[in-house]
This record gives sequence, structure tokens and C-alpha cells, in this order.
Amino acid sequence: MKAFIKLEDVTHVYSNGVAAVQNVNLEIKEGEIVAILGSNGSGKTTLVKHFNGLLKPTSGRVLVNGMDTRKEKIAKISSLVGYVFQNPNHQIFLPTVREELYYGCKNLKMPREEVEKRVRKAIEIFELDGLLDTNPFDLNYSKRKEIAMASIMAISPDVIVLDEPTTGQDHRGCKRVLDLVRLLHSHGHIVVLITHDMQLVGELNCRVVVMNRGKVIADNQADMVFTNHELMEIAGLQPPQVTELASNLPYLNKEKTYLTIDSIIQWFKNKKKNSRVEGVNIATGTRS
Ligand SMILES: Nc1ncnc2c1ncn2[C@@H]1O[C@H](COP(=O)(O)OP(=O)(O)O)[C@@H](O)[C@H]1O
Ligand SMILES: [Mg+2]
Repeated sequence: MKAFIKLEDVTHVYSNGVAAVQNVNLEIKEGEIVAILGSNGSGKTTLVKHFNGLLKPTSGRVLVNGMDTRKEKIAKISSLVGYVFQNPNHQIFLPTVREELYYGCKNLKMPREEVEKRVRKAIEIFELDGLLDTNPFDLNYSKRKEIAMASIMAISPDVIVLDEPTTGQDHRGCKRVLDLVRLLHSHGHIVVLITHDMQLVGELNCRVVVMNRGKVIADNQADMVFTNHELMEIAGLQPPQVTELASNLPYLNKEKTYLTIDSIIQWFKNKKKNSRVEGVNIATGTRS
């Protein structure tokens, strides 16, 4: 697959001298879901702000669909790569939900019917029908976060970058993020998400880029990363609880990494069908 975003030896040094991203080489390809993991302060947000030109590299080069972000207008790059801020208060500024949802599309000077179609879709997915005349700042944080996601989604950029989308969300909100990532992916968008939510990454079992102190220290499929204990330790990460549990359960297939409860349930169902675990105490692995 073609690389849509390409980082060539990118370093970013803030004006206070902090080298938040150091010598990163990375390609994000069409059709991908990529999770960016790492402890707080490891440089994840600084890295992804380079994807849509919000930040420019101090040295190195970022190419988006072949365009150098240092040379191209930011409006052009952000129509291709949408960034949903970690904190919705940094993104939302209009007095009604409706205006917020229309803002991005209007800026792109799309035909009216197309704008209407895209905004309608976002309203439907996030169930915002009853809130269109509300001031986003009268809503709770979690709903405001969804409005931030909906307004970027309405622009329908090729790449959607979600910065900690499930932080501060309740169970329903987290489920909605998972569904949204799958939906965007199925519609051909590239999805990049920064997250501490290992359950979400487990559900997606997507490509994972691990950052530590401004550097990329791993780039692999989630199940490969989650079972690399040394790497997880260095990056200050913990695999999903279910993966830990599964590695301690006897009789599960030890060749496989279990990232979701569903995958374990499926294993037991298959085994039961083949009636091989009859008479086995699942918790202890002993035969009765
Ligand atoms: N605007 C800024 N000015 C100066 N330093 C910053 C700025 N934003 C982030 N940093 C520093 O850069 C490093 C990486 O931060 P950040 O990219 O926000 O990491 P993460 O998203 O992984 O938590 C941290 O040391 C942080 O304090
Ligand atoms: Mg961050």
C-alpha cells in the first residue's frame, strides 16, 4: 500500500529546548489503523501534530500525500488530515453545536449538498439531533469530546487522528469510539489514534507504534507488542488485563495471544464443540 504520510528523520525541538520528537522515520499507509502508545510526555501529541502541519519539524521532512508540510498551506494539509484534539476545549470555539459541525466543511468550500450530507452523517452517528442549538460549553466534557470528533468527521479527511479519544469517556462513550474507528476504517479512512486504552487497542489488534522519550522504540502488530514484556516495561505500558489473565490460564492455546474476552470465549466454545475439555476444571487445568 502507498504511504500517505511519510516522516523522514523528523526532530522537533520546542522553543524551551525540549526535544519532544527525535529522528523519527515513519510511514502511515492507506487502509491502516495505527495506535500510538507511550507514557505521558513521550512525544505522542507532538508527533501527530506533524501529520497535519500544526507543527513543522525542526529538522527532517514530513510528506502528506507527497506534499511537504513546510511548503504547503496548512488549510490544504488539514483537509487531508484531520486532528481531533485531546482536550476538546482547545478545538471548539463556536456558540452552537450546529455551527461547530458546519465550520470545517464550510471552510473547505464544498458544494452545499455535500456539506449537508456529511454533517447529517456525523449528527446521526453521535446522536446530536437534539443538541444542535446548544452551546457546546453547556455540555459535559465527554459530550464535548464527541462534538470535537463529529466536527472533524464531517470534514471527512483521508486521515483522522484521534488524540486520546476514550480518556474521560464512560463505557458507552468508549464503545462508540471503537465503533467509530471501525466505521471510519470501513469507509476507507486511515485512522491514527493516541491512546492509553489497551482494551481498545486489543479489540482492534492494529499496528502499534510505541514511543519513549521522543523516539519510536517499536512498530509492530498489537499482539506482538503486548507479549514483549521487556519492551512494555521500558515504555511503561501494561497489556490488556485479559491478555495477562489468558497467559496464566492453563489449556488455552499457548501459541496464541488473547487480546479480548471474546477470543477466549470463542476458544472455549470451539473446545466444547470438539468435547476435548470435558472433565477439566477450567480454572486449575486439573482433570476431575
Ligand atoms: N508547547 C510546548 N512547549 C514546550 N514543551 C512542550 C510543549 N508541548 C509539549 N512539550 C513537552 O514535550 C514533551 C512531549 O510532550 P507531548 O508530545 O505532549 O507528549 P505525550 O502526548 O506523549 O504526553 C514533554 O516533555 C512536554 O513537556
Ligand atoms: Mg498527548
